[in-house]
Amino acid sequence: MTAQHSQHQAPHHEGHSFGIDVGGSGIKGAEVDLATGEFVGDRLKIATPKPATPEAVAEVIAQIVAEKGWNGPVGITLPAVIKNQVVRSAANIDKSWIGINAQELLSQFLDTPFTVLNDADAAGLAEVAYGDDIVRTGPVIFLTLGTGIGSAFLLDGQLFPNTEIGHLIVGEQEAEHQASSAVKDREALKTKQWAKRVNRVLYEYEALFNPSAFVIGGGISRKFDKWGEHLSIETPVVAAQLRNRAGIVGAAMAAKEGIRP
Ligand code: BGC
Repeated sequence: MTAQHSQHQAPHHEGHSFGIDVGGSGIKGAEVDLATGEFVGDRLKIATPKPATPEAVAEVIAQIVAEKGWNGPVGITLPAVIKNQVVRSAANIDKSWIGINAQELLSQFLDTPFTVLNDADAAGLAEVAYGDDIVRTGPVIFLTLGTGIGSAFLLDGQLFPNTEIGHLIVGEQEAEHQASSAVKDREALKTKQWAKRVNRVLYEYEALFNPSAFVIGGGISRKFDKWGEHLSIETPVVAAQLRNRAGIVGAAMAAKEGIRP
């Protein structure tokens, strides 16, 4: 697919931006009002192609932008390390992403300026902008629990990008292989069983990084009141405010602010 879809396009609104969050099961996009961090209109979700090769994902991204009639800057998250717009890891996406220059690839599919960043980094930035004060205060570790475990390290709201502590070995396994929400589903763990695994991972993170708080995002953060009570580490753990919206909102912010990791 090419990016010639101009028939529905109106000039984009100045205070708005557009974010796309590429996940393991869906690719989701929405226009975002940056004054409020809210979506403008509906979010569009298209199933992640299988295999999720760079070209297949790029086509879906272009389709979302075209269907939404957006013609301003676009922010795009990937579940990967992004350095100088080059994809450097692929834990939960097709391995053929590694080494891809996202600007070179996506400019063949999009005719608007865009930026690509790590999904957890984007979500962390959105929490800084629209979430609780706790996220903007001191050293904070933001985590997303989903297909994998993503992390954003924040110091007084400033991001240290591309931390990948979901891959830290805790005990005998990578953290995300024992405590992501995908693992909870895959192994049909009871909430308490799974929460204990999360606690073990947080205990290790606490000992190594000593943040003033952990902020937990991802779909499962919606049920935090059900599993948060099983956590027993000393550091405060709070649920993210933006929940599943954070990736898209953070991507939109990055596009507008010209953040280009
Ligand atoms: C990836 C990270 C990503 C996280 C959440 C991990 O497997 O390595 O880059 O942020 O999953 O999607």
